[in-house]
Amino acid sequence: MNNEDNNLPCHHGPAEHRGDHHENETIRLLYERASCRSFEDKDVSDDVLNSILKAGIHAPTGGNLQPYSIIKIRDDAVRKKLGKMCGQEFIGEAPVNLLFCLDWHRLGRWAELESAPYTAPDSFIHFWIGFQDVVIAAQNICTAVDALGLGSVYIGTIFDFIDDTRKMFDLPKGVLPVVLLSLGYPKHRPEPRKKLGLDMIVHDEKYRLPDDNKLLEAFGAKYPVKPEITEERLEKIHNVVRRVQGSKAADECIEKIKERGYINFALRYFGLHYVADEMVSANEEYIGSIEKAGFKFFKPYRLKGN
Ligand SMILES: Cc1cc2nc3c(=O)[nH]c(=O)nc-3n(C[C@H](O)[C@H](O)[C@H](O)COP(=O)(O)O)c2cc1C
Repeated sequence: MNNEDNNLPCHHGPAEHRGDHHENETIRLLYERASCRSFEDKDVSDDVLNSILKAGIHAPTGGNLQPYSIIKIRDDAVRKKLGKMCGQEFIGEAPVNLLFCLDWHRLGRWAELESAPYTAPDSFIHFWIGFQDVVIAAQNICTAVDALGLGSVYIGTIFDFIDDTRKMFDLPKGVLPVVLLSLGYPKHRPEPRKKLGLDMIVHDEKYRLPDDNKLLEAFGAKYPVKPEITEERLEKIHNVVRRVQGSKAADECIEKIKERGYINFALRYFGLHYVADEMVSANEEYIGSIEKAGFKFFKPYRLKGN
């Protein structure tokens, strides 16, 4: 997977998304949040950090199992190493990094000590719910970070280095790194990004297939920038489209780009950034790493008794 794209448009959206005018402080905080990628050289005190972390503990989890662990990373060398590994140097500048992990080890040990039957790491439904538990706790923490005047950004790229990350932090079997959060005091408050509006995202009672023109208009408003054509980009796009859809489609795609005079944002996303063929050819490697971490739900589970 590629590193996250930070060069996308960042202007204010319509007032509806800006939320400048909401009188409720919590709602305003949620409307005005934005990922922060530049941090002051200022430590986060234990008091502040613990208040933030406690907001995570209070998050809902399926069955209140709390199947997650958070590795608190303050060590300068380790932060820099993570920044280098993920190709995102600002990770090293954030005074605190939090590694959110799905953790079936702690519950497994508890079950063992209490002689309870336990199959959680090998169960797909446990994985599915547990993964949501991790992310919901992380998002509670993000909101707490913003509420106390700090800023943060998720780093999903960490998942490209599952094996290394497991080694770096001594993660036992049954513990899977999910996402990293870099946080600290922002050098400057980032502007909220443009988002699709309620009309695109929310459906009344039943799913409504979007009207094509409205859809193009909505994405056009979200991404008003028109990336310029270069030979290098055309070649890359041609290669990706050829691999995914065949040569004829690739030739037609390039024709259309030339006619239009710019590279539209769908092509920029799936042809240049989240490169469509690479995104699927990496599947086996990810699944292999998840299995190595002790999660076996990709294969049929054999019960010992009958
Ligand atoms: C699961 C997840 C993974 C992300 N990974 C990265 C990352 O590796 N690097 C980065 O700079 N931003 C990362 N982001 C932040 C997104 O780029 C950001 O949320 C998005 O562009 C929208 O901007 P906003 O958060 O300011 O609204 C990630 C966000 C999420 C939710």
